[in-house]
Amino acid sequence: MRMKTLATLDDMKTYYDQRAAEYDDWWLGRGLYAALHRPGWHEEVWEVERVIADLPPAHTLDVACGTGFLTRFLRGHVAGLDQSERMIEIAARRVPGGEFVVGDGLALPFAADSMDRVLSGHFYGHLNRHEGARFLAEARRVASELVIVDAALRDGVEPEETQERVLKDGSRHQVYKRYFDPAALAEELGGGTVLFAGTWFVAVVARLR
Ligand SMILES: C[S@@+](CC[C@H](N)C(=O)[O-])C[C@H]1O[C@@H](n2cnc3c(N)ncnc32)[C@H](O)[C@@H]1O
Repeated sequence: MRMKTLATLDDMKTYYDQRAAEYDDWWLGRGLYAALHRPGWHEEVWEVERVIADLPPAHTLDVACGTGFLTRFLRGHVAGLDQSERMIEIAARRVPGGEFVVGDGLALPFAADSMDRVLSGHFYGHLNRHEGARFLAEARRVASELVIVDAALRDGVEPEETQERVLKDGSRHQVYKRYFDPAALAEELGGGTVLFAGTWFVAVVARLR
């Protein structure tokens, strides 16, 4: 059995490229996720979708947009960035009016102040503190508002852990992952407002400048 440690951003790219075609199974409770006991999961996914759909229309960049599962609910001019070509291909098909680019979320290929908002779902929690600071600096450079959607701290998980992830092909990958208390995340972002606090997900909006 192959084992990979996600020590570098290149490793992360390999893992998510490989996972792209089956990624939405996690959101939708299909495939490897069909048998998981996740009480209230689907209701919370709908809540998160509504939180995003309720954001005022704006020029929004979804950093690490993945398959565009959340991107599609944004209103206004939508851009998506991900380092995985396969993720971007799926997102571009799913959100036909959007502008999608392959790139690094820690070195955004966009001019200063070129967006109203940066949104990022389930990316910040994969970053160590140093990478997280780089991401926040980049988000602040391109936009004045940041919305983070990520995993909620709950029973059975640690605030910070390394997880073994298994894909359909049997490959195993080690992934760094944080889980967030909503108020603590808001404070970490420099003083944000909690938009959603559930068992599975948190969503926070913060002014960056
Ligand atoms: C857990 S998925 C989240 C996808 C999507 N935002 C969502 O909530 O469904 C993490 C995503 O981060 C992307 N990613 C990882 N490192 C990245 C980086 N340095 N720059 C851009 N995207 C990155 C992966 O390719 C993957 O699509």
